[in-house]
Amino acid sequence: MNINGKHYRTIWTSPDHRQTVYIIDQRHLPHQFVIEELTTLENTITAIKDMHVRGAGLIGATAGFGMYLASLAASDHTFDEDMNRAGKRLCQSRPTAKNLGWAVDRILMATGTAPSPTAKREIAYQTAQEIADEDADFCRRIGQNGVSIIEQISKAKNGQPVNILTHCNAGWLAFVDHGSATAPIYAARDAGIGVHIWVDETRPWNQGAKLTAWELQQEKIPNTLITDNAGGHLMQRGDVDLVIVGTDRTTHTGDVANKIGTYLKALAAHDNNIPFYVALPSSTFDWELDKGKDIPIEKRAGSEITRITGLKDDGSLETVRLVAEGTQAENYSFDVTPARLITGLITERGIVKAEREAIHRLFPEH
Ligand code: MRU
Repeated sequence: MNINGKHYRTIWTSPDHRQTVYIIDQRHLPHQFVIEELTTLENTITAIKDMHVRGAGLIGATAGFGMYLASLAASDHTFDEDMNRAGKRLCQSRPTAKNLGWAVDRILMATGTAPSPTAKREIAYQTAQEIADEDADFCRRIGQNGVSIIEQISKAKNGQPVNILTHCNAGWLAFVDHGSATAPIYAARDAGIGVHIWVDETRPWNQGAKLTAWELQQEKIPNTLITDNAGGHLMQRGDVDLVIVGTDRTTHTGDVANKIGTYLKALAAHDNNIPFYVALPSSTFDWELDKGKDIPIEKRAGSEITRITGLKDDGSLETVRLVAEGTQAENYSFDVTPARLITGLITERGIVKAEREAIHRLFPEH
């Protein structure tokens, strides 16, 4: 994605300085564009846990590079044990996004059979890079596959802009490039199809308000910020043609965990006959869990609800308390939308019904 005319991925290394991994510290967006350097496993765990990076694909890619950084510090004598320990610690940093454990396992598998610690370190680097490249490529393909949905609606509306509602940030910032839910939107724009995006603010972290709206602005895609509770009303008015969201974990039976509030949007879309699509790379599928209710749902600090950070007139950031002192808050980060409410899943291999047989037909290796 382009920021002020310069192309950035959300995570990268430089070929001549591979001991440092660069990320964009998303806590400061959209007000400040801060690049952070990660050099240790500890840095990586903090970056994931405290949401310097977030979003399923980017969490996975960061975990891959975190394992590579762990390999640099691993002892030659206890290399595999050190790496297993690092993987366990990374997996505990955020529980819901499937991509995290998937990336850790991929590095452990790849390094496990290499002949020497030196070879294992090189393989860890190459595999982390592969995970990042694949994430960007899968998102690009999600765009190519999903654009037909927007095109059809555009034709039915005689070329009037297609109004798409999205929740949270399943954009470039949640992946390595392109995004999942945003990829079909960017592909539609590139194909000359008119779109307008309703952006849910997405309390309490406000990923929609702070990240998606900013990202769409950078890409010059018309968008309007709305409160989390406005979607149902807009749907009843006929102002929403399509919903596209991302997901942090999707069972192989089609149940979708995504940012808290997604389920309510799916219910409202269902009631108003509005297509509800979920965009995901296959690295987000959980091939073991049969039921969405078994997906681990992260609970974060209540202070994320009771306090809010914003920009002061003097350009500095300030965090303030919103509520009476002592107010108790419960902060579930994700909810599960049952497969029956989902029109389809947009993947890198094509669009598929949110049901076990169809998903396995598209991914027979699982
Ligand atoms: O808590 P986050 O910001 O890491 O949550 C992830 C998300 O941004 C959303 O749930 C998103 O829609 C899916 S991640 C591709």
